[in-house]
Amino acid sequence: ASDSIDVREILDRRISEAMLRAFGDSAADADPMLTAATKEEFGDYQCNAAMSFAKKMKQKPRDVAAKIVEELQIADLCTEPQIAGPGFINLTLSTEFIQSKLRLMLNDKDRLGIEKKNPPQRIVVDFSSPNVAKEMHVGHLRSTIIGESICRLLEFLGHEVIRLNHIGDWGTQFGMLILYLKQVAPEVIKGEEVDLGDLVAFYKKAKVKFDENDEFKSNARKEVVELQAENEESMAAWRHLCEQSRKEFKKIYDELDITFEERGESFYNPYLKDVITSLQEQGLAVEDGGAQVVFLDGIANRDGSSQGLIVQKSDGGFMYSTTDLAAMRYRADVDRAERILYVTDVGQAFHFEQVFQVARRAGFVSDTVSLEHVPFGLVLGEDGKKFKTRSGATVKLKDLLDEAVSRAEADIVARLKAEDREESEEFIRSSSRKVGLSAVVYADLKTTRTSNYRFSFDKMLALQGNTAPYMLYAYARIQGINRKVGSEDLDLPSVDVVLDDISEKSLARHLIRLPRILAELEVELKPHTLCDYIFELSQKFNQFYERCSIANAESEELKRSRLALAQLTARVLKLSLHLLDIKPLERL
Ligand code: ARG
Repeated sequence: ASDSIDVREILDRRISEAMLRAFGDSAADADPMLTAATKEEFGDYQCNAAMSFAKKMKQKPRDVAAKIVEELQIADLCTEPQIAGPGFINLTLSTEFIQSKLRLMLNDKDRLGIEKKNPPQRIVVDFSSPNVAKEMHVGHLRSTIIGESICRLLEFLGHEVIRLNHIGDWGTQFGMLILYLKQVAPEVIKGEEVDLGDLVAFYKKAKVKFDENDEFKSNARKEVVELQAENEESMAAWRHLCEQSRKEFKKIYDELDITFEERGESFYNPYLKDVITSLQEQGLAVEDGGAQVVFLDGIANRDGSSQGLIVQKSDGGFMYSTTDLAAMRYRADVDRAERILYVTDVGQAFHFEQVFQVARRAGFVSDTVSLEHVPFGLVLGEDGKKFKTRSGATVKLKDLLDEAVSRAEADIVARLKAEDREESEEFIRSSSRKVGLSAVVYADLKTTRTSNYRFSFDKMLALQGNTAPYMLYAYARIQGINRKVGSEDLDLPSVDVVLDDISEKSLARHLIRLPRILAELEVELKPHTLCDYIFELSQKFNQFYERCSIANAESEELKRSRLALAQLTARVLKLSLHLLDIKPLERL
């Protein structure tokens, strides 16, 4: 058998080879059209190539299928292929093959048989990225959670990941805010501690004044000039504001175990002018009504004229997009990134479409570098409307996480009482934290990334269904079984796994799909597929555990085999949960 663990890849290749042998060059670029079987009784995979290829060859699909099967060399992987219906080829992995894959996984405690990518890619993940002097909102929370999960996966696969927090820490709004603070609360910019909530309130008042008062407006502009000239007093004020916001953001990051390098928008200031010059020299940026504008290819206004992206305003100020152009150039040139991911809400899709196009045309990013916007849907309230508190205010993330924890605690206390179990304060405190925070994280990740997501404490904390509590209890329960039945000296790699019962086989087939799930995740970046995978895994484990006793297995050999399956299930769960930013508890 092949040493590569990804079965799909091997089968794909074997089918292509068989088609080449059967039909020669006319099958040179025929698609093997391999999919997962729609029902377990059809086997593991289904090859649909015969139908479309038959059309091309003007032959009967079943005949084409028969010819493919005749040439197909897969005895090391599958049982005899079956032709069904109009010409589907059903493939079922052989027990020996499944066993050999299980052995690979059992042999490799940390990586479960998943090889590191060679060579690794350098990948920038731009995520979270809240704004200074503004509340970090639920959209940023989604970006943070999805981004972290993507980073963990890519790191596990061996890539060099550069995690960047592109904080909105620059812009003309700081001129306005600093001027306002100078007037009404000078202590705040002189280094006094200030709550982010207060800062946000100051910001809102400053904005009102800016819009209403012309004198304030023109003074604010002067303040911006001071800031851009890096006047020390203004810079100190700005740094202090950033520091106050950062403290607030950090609370969330610490709760969720998130790390990254902060490289805010201000980091790219020194490179902005050069971006404009380069765009002008290449004839890409042109003057339009005093501003510098790049007209976009293939993106038209209603009247058919080509749409322009403003890269510098008539007053000389730069834009959000200018910073992104400078950042892309820096990430390609200095960071040497080969893949750059942007995790933001779908609302920014057009922004990224525009800046990607300009960056490519300007040669800031070469064609070998992949630029990918990784969009996600809105976070909505349970009622499907805008997410806010009962009183209509915006929800503070810290409050939201705290509420999840306190609800989880109430659940745990009730459960312990019902089970008449006595646990320490510390156990209750730490398990509640774990369950509550994991519930928020998991609920977010299990939603199809691009869909809108309805935030519901009740749903995310439910013990049944695809939720964090369900997964955490499932893991703790399996570990409980492993502790109770397992002996310390069980040498997993040496166990021959028996796959006689259908539930054993079904569990095993699911376990060996892990590499494929991760391989698809690497491309698609959709964490919900991993959530679905482990949810199904725990269900398959339950079926197995109901039918196959471990403690009272008929023989010592069978007991060791079942224990190996149970331990492997636990390892797969633990690794998957880790990739979803959740560290499971051994006991719950
Ligand atoms: N600060 C932005 C926001 O709050 C997100 C930044 C995303 N990253 C980027 N490179 N544009 O919407």
